[in-house]
Amino acid sequence: MKKRLIWDLPTRLFHWLLVLSILAQYITADLLDDAVQWHFYIGYFTLGLIIFRLLWGMVGPKYAKFSQFVKGPRDVFEYAKTLFDRDSLPSVGHNPLGGWFVVVMIVLVLVQAVSGLFMTDDIFLDGPLRRMATDNVLTIMNTLHHVAFDTLLYVIILHIGASIFYGIYKRQQLLPPMISGKKPLPVDDEQYYGETQGIRHSHIGRAIIIALIAAASVYIIVEVFPPSSSATQYYY
Ligand code: HEM
Ligand code: HEM
Repeated sequence: MKKRLIWDLPTRLFHWLLVLSILAQYITADLLDDAVQWHFYIGYFTLGLIIFRLLWGMVGPKYAKFSQFVKGPRDVFEYAKTLFDRDSLPSVGHNPLGGWFVVVMIVLVLVQAVSGLFMTDDIFLDGPLRRMATDNVLTIMNTLHHVAFDTLLYVIILHIGASIFYGIYKRQQLLPPMISGKKPLPVDDEQYYGETQGIRHSHIGRAIIIALIAAASVYIIVEVFPPSSSATQYYY
């Protein structure tokens, strides 16, 4: 076996920052009193993370690209048939089933962050887009903010369960590569996978530009786009 770089540094950073953010969002909304302002700030950061990942899925290195791991029903079905096969060849990036899990998780966190922009704590704080929406939209966003989180919890439990299943049943350790970036693959991988696998580097420069674009997008959504309070005073 030879270790090859599969998960670039920005994708790994995205993953572990996302885990911390979701944990912090649960703590600031459900466990702590008076932490809603923090909940807002971390929510904006999470929105930025997701915008970053959506762009990185288009311009990032090979295994971070959606086109590499979002597969059609035939591939998913073929893969599902080998799920309990202990000797199947390890997938190099996300497997066809796991790829769809990734999409579902990213969409759920996006729904969570966007619906949050319309929420209120009913005391002091309104999400930045709250004033722009009708009552019907606010009701929908409130429902989404609760339902998406409950759904996300189940999906996360399945996600962690799947990685334990791969480690114990299939003897494929998925967690260490999400930390170091490197996955052990057969030395003659060209023979098994049809071409040499792995990426040479993480494209950090490109990731910084994408991160700046993501940060600017959040700034526009939160600070520039909503009607300013003076304009609203004028309106009243
Ligand atoms: C809040 C909790 C979590 C969320 C929202 C989450 C979300 C995600 C997402 C979106 C990806 C895809 C990464 C990418 O391509 O950008 C991923 C991959 C992965 N996550 Fe998590 N994750 C969570 C917690 C965890 C935990 C606690 C573990 C450790 C057991 C873990 C292990 C992994 C592994 C091993 C992969 C790579 C899977 C593969 O090899 O295809 N995740 N996760
Ligand atoms: C992805 C990021 C987010 C996650 C994971 C998240 C998660 C949660 C959770 C678990 C709750 C508690 C729901 C309940 O008690 O059933 C909550 C409530 C809330 N969230 Fe978020 N949220 C996120 C983003 C946001 C954003 C961006 C905002 C506003 C800008 C926001 C505003 C609120 C408000 C105002 C509440 C109600 C708090 C209260 O009742 O005092 N959230 N959120």
